[in-house]
Amino acid sequence: MKLSIIGTGYVGLVTGTCFAEMGHDVTCIDIDAAKVERMKKGECPIYEPGLEPLMQSNYKEGRLHFANNYDSVTKAEAIFLAVGTPSSDDGQADLKYVFGACDSIIPYLQDGSIVVVKSTVPVGTGNKVREYIKGKTNKKFYVVNNPEFLKEGSAVDDFMKPERIIIGAQEIEAAQRIDDLYEPFNRQVKRTIHMSNISAEMTKYAANCFLATKISFMNEVARLCDIVGADVEEVRHGISTDSRIGSQFLYPGPGYGGSCFPKDVKALVFTAKEHGARFKIVEAVEEVNKEQKKYLVSKVKKHFKDDLKGKTFVLWGTAFKANTDDIRETPAIDTAIALHQAGAKVRFHDPEAADNFEKLMGQMNIPVDQFENKYDALNGADGLLIITEWKQYRAPDFEEIKSRLKTPIIFDGRNLYNTKKVLEMGFTYYAIGKAI
Ligand code: UGA
Repeated sequence: MKLSIIGTGYVGLVTGTCFAEMGHDVTCIDIDAAKVERMKKGECPIYEPGLEPLMQSNYKEGRLHFANNYDSVTKAEAIFLAVGTPSSDDGQADLKYVFGACDSIIPYLQDGSIVVVKSTVPVGTGNKVREYIKGKTNKKFYVVNNPEFLKEGSAVDDFMKPERIIIGAQEIEAAQRIDDLYEPFNRQVKRTIHMSNISAEMTKYAANCFLATKISFMNEVARLCDIVGADVEEVRHGISTDSRIGSQFLYPGPGYGGSCFPKDVKALVFTAKEHGARFKIVEAVEEVNKEQKKYLVSKVKKHFKDDLKGKTFVLWGTAFKANTDDIRETPAIDTAIALHQAGAKVRFHDPEAADNFEKLMGQMNIPVDQFENKYDALNGADGLLIITEWKQYRAPDFEEIKSRLKTPIIFDGRNLYNTKKVLEMGFTYYAIGKAI
């Protein structure tokens, strides 16, 4: 099939590259000409494991193209909208890029073109997009919602091994053609699920908000464990053996971040309010997450009896999670701001996201020092804070850490270490809900 993908953010680029890998003829379109040129040279604009070599091989073999214009849309059977839907100040998803992309493709649409909304869009947007385009063209087109469920850091794998593929459409012929596109994934088990446009949109929000709820729930369990003296790791293991609960997304931490959960939680709360209702659980999920992002620093403050003035702390990890250079809504931001406001100096290390974090802190006027070597960052510092669960931090040389820090203290926001061993090595150790 010939496909056009509008927007080469992580969703668009991963979708386009993986469809090309499956044998389709794909053109990825972006309004940023410089970015398009870089991609033509084989450069991947984001850090996503496995994506760059796949981009390069498919480009070389002529199945993947990059363009700064919309010409390819004319021949495309399906045009995927994979543009951003950032939050407005009130939590509403801003659809200017979605409708902007519609304006760009309308002149190129043909009878039978399928416009596929891949971006996460508020419930009802697919139908609005249909009405919007209908008002501007006489061609007979279709609008399908096909939300994505990729996780940053494992996006290529998630695309290639999907658990389910949601196809939301009004007309059965359009739904069937998108089903055909995903046919290779349906061979062993039928993974495509058909529904209305509006249900597809709701499915995406319900999924992300449910996962965010699991995390906030566990973060609150962890906080209570700290108070009552239970160990959240034992509790997590205990409950996850119940198949109704499952074992994933039960890890307490420094609060969820990224480009999806924070935005989608806000958007669902907004959608409910817009319709005169309240989504109280999801409102609480957001509230709990805000508190959680302050939790690790509250432990630092408690340890140092609220006197952080002139002290130096080191963040290991600034990405919102491991295997990405994405720092959007990362708990590292709240942590660095809180430490700075308390008068402390902040150093940090991150294998991939360091430059992005340094730039953001610069824009926010928060002084931070970047270190290329994770141990060098510790020299003479008053404490180490683990923010991201990068593999590089999982089994460090603890003697090295001890010899570099002024006093051996670790505040572990990801519960990476074995409490008993770390304590035996002479560290003062704080974690999330481990009742130390
Ligand atoms: C999330 C969803 O998991 C994807 O299914 C979805 O497609 C994507 O949003 C999206 O809407 O585009 P992503 O934001 O890439 O994916 O990352 P996650 O792996 O879900 O992690 C989100 C945040 O939750 C991270 O800050 C992570 O550290 C945190 N988290 C995750 C926890 O604190 N505990 C956990 O047990 C799991």
